[in-house]
Amino acid sequence: MTIAGDLRALEAEALAAVDATATLDALETVRVGYLGKKGSLTAVLRGLGRLSAEERPEAGRVSNEVRAALEAALEDKRGMLEAVVRESRIVAEAVDVTLPGRRRPLGRQHVLHQIVDEIVEIFAGLGYQIAEGPEVELDYYNFTALNHPPDHPARALQDTFYVRDLSGDRAVVEGESDVLLRTHTSPVQVHVMETQKPPIYVLAPGKVYRRDVADPSHLPQFTQIEGLVVDEGITFGDLKGTLEHFVHEMFGPERKVRLRPHFFPFTEPSAEVDVSCAICDGSGCRSCGGEGWLEILGCGMVDPNVFSYVGIDPERYTGFAFGMGAERIAGLKYGVPDLRLFIEGDTRFLHQF
Ligand code: PHE
Repeated sequence: MTIAGDLRALEAEALAAVDATATLDALETVRVGYLGKKGSLTAVLRGLGRLSAEERPEAGRVSNEVRAALEAALEDKRGMLEAVVRESRIVAEAVDVTLPGRRRPLGRQHVLHQIVDEIVEIFAGLGYQIAEGPEVELDYYNFTALNHPPDHPARALQDTFYVRDLSGDRAVVEGESDVLLRTHTSPVQVHVMETQKPPIYVLAPGKVYRRDVADPSHLPQFTQIEGLVVDEGITFGDLKGTLEHFVHEMFGPERKVRLRPHFFPFTEPSAEVDVSCAICDGSGCRSCGGEGWLEILGCGMVDPNVFSYVGIDPERYTGFAFGMGAERIAGLKYGVPDLRLFIEGDTRFLHQF
């Protein structure tokens, strides 16, 4: 066998090997096997130097041809295999743009927050500022400064969660603790009047707590929205007009408003406010329990005794306050018969709003 013959045999073998490869990795193995540092073609090429002067030109020409042919074949095959890889990736990553989209579950604002925002909007339109106070409150703010004398029965009207007793280590005894969960947002009135001078126009939404067992119309934790106005010349007529405006904005201009005399220690006179039933317009039906009216809030003129606790001159200023429950307003607005639904977190219920 001549050296040229060896080279041609090696060429045929190498081209067949290239042809047989099915992956880029296999192709690289073949390339290294022939053209790499220890490759078989490389070995032959290295041997050329030992040939005689007559043999060398022919062997050199053939080896160049063989190498060129092998490199061309490798290049071709690489192009082909890369195209195959690209194709299969395109198929694998294909997106069918005609498929319907997958819906992600979307959160939304809780209906109670929506209601509070709506109420805030209405009073913001009248120039009210938002005020806040602590949910863990002192007896002084929740009761004393709101004109509940120490043994006043009104303290028992609202069942209070006490946080600690006066000595700090005994078991909590009702009426002996100075720290409690606020039973209403009215203590915010006191905080505001302690820190701001009239004119005061504030709205104070927040959570309140009462030792009630949850039932369709009671929750141990619920949401109140307190209103307080203190200015010169404020009258009961201003209170009534303000609440009528609120009811018409919230429930619609056709709803009527009725004030009934009531008692709160911190307002005098006091009233409860009813709105006419949306179904029967006041004549009485099943949905309003035959009453024709639905109670929505408590209110009254700020008691001068409250002013004296916060150092506001009752000779110069008068004011009114009101407090409503967001759950109750939401229940009336949407016809929800059981307030517990608002706090149970059942998204089937909540997604309706
Ligand atoms: N704080 C009262 C309650 O929770 C409501 C109220 C607020 C009444 C302001 C009068 C004035 O029942």
